[in-house]
Amino acid sequence: MDKNEIEKIRVEIKSFHAKTYEDLEFFRIKFLGKKKGILTFLFKKLKKIPDKKRKNIGKILNELKKNVQDKIQIFHKKNFIKGEKHYKYKFDPTIPGKSIEIGSLHPISIVKNRILDILKMIGFSYVEGPEIENDWHNFTALNIPIDHPSRDMQDTFFLYKNPDILLRTHTSSVQIRYMKKHNPPFRVLSIGKVYRNETISSRSNFMFHQAEGFYIDKKVSFLDLKKIIQYLINSLFGEKAKIRFRPSYFPFTEPSAEVDIYCDDYNAGWLEIMGCGMIDPQVLKNVNIDSEIYSGFAFGMGIERLAHLIYKINDIRTYFENDICFLKQFKNDF
Ligand code: PHE
Repeated sequence: MDKNEIEKIRVEIKSFHAKTYEDLEFFRIKFLGKKKGILTFLFKKLKKIPDKKRKNIGKILNELKKNVQDKIQIFHKKNFIKGEKHYKYKFDPTIPGKSIEIGSLHPISIVKNRILDILKMIGFSYVEGPEIENDWHNFTALNIPIDHPSRDMQDTFFLYKNPDILLRTHTSSVQIRYMKKHNPPFRVLSIGKVYRNETISSRSNFMFHQAEGFYIDKKVSFLDLKKIIQYLINSLFGEKAKIRFRPSYFPFTEPSAEVDIYCDDYNAGWLEIMGCGMIDPQVLKNVNIDSEIYSGFAFGMGIERLAHLIYKINDIRTYFENDICFLKQFKNDF
């Protein structure tokens, strides 16, 4: 490492003038590059130099290194201030940007969250139950007799027979699970997937989502049920939404009703959107709630059906085909 060599390096560093960012990179690598940088190499050599000389040469090398770093820093400072003027790739605001795909909530999740928000406002709390159920929670405790058609192999997916383990056919099983463990009064909402062995078409699928609300207290009446359903529907569809209660039958409610909503689109007229009713005293007995003191109601609805009406969709299959173009048009903007 002679003086001339070092002097040459010093001159080269001093006289260097980067015009572009590439020039600068070239310069940095030439002197400080990890593998072949001139100064890097000299620093390595330094270790083999006798003690006496090493200190002095080390100082010189450190100075040169600092000169290179200063040049780099100055270049950056100057060019950032001048709006990257000297960079080869100038900033061109006309080039279309790289778009970042932002995911969106699934329409079923949007409607689910909305129902939850609406009912939370009036004191409902949220619970979940298992999708794999036994016969007792899904049928027997709900007063659904052995020969009821919904137990038929046609409708239910059985995982085991005797004892019967199945995919729940409705969220009413959550009522039973909850009532078994808690003492009234309570207002509870549960939302989840339910399964039925149905042919897949635009109107039906082997799986769909249900929301189930139930409310038990002293002196709960059918009027309370009507009021809460009216509030829910108006919150979802606006103040003008028209609904009607039609007498119906469910084994676990008495009296029972179905709720229809009036729909102007495609001359659809009245569309059924939920089942409801006063919880049958026998069901309360099954979960050890005194039906002389307490009464309550329950209501259950299909989320897909509601989403159909809200978003004007007419094919249930579209929700589960994972077509991004379809799914990304739903905004969480109720
Ligand atoms: N479980 C019923 C069904 O799936 C709906 C329902 C829920 C009816 C609660 C009345 C009360 O069809």
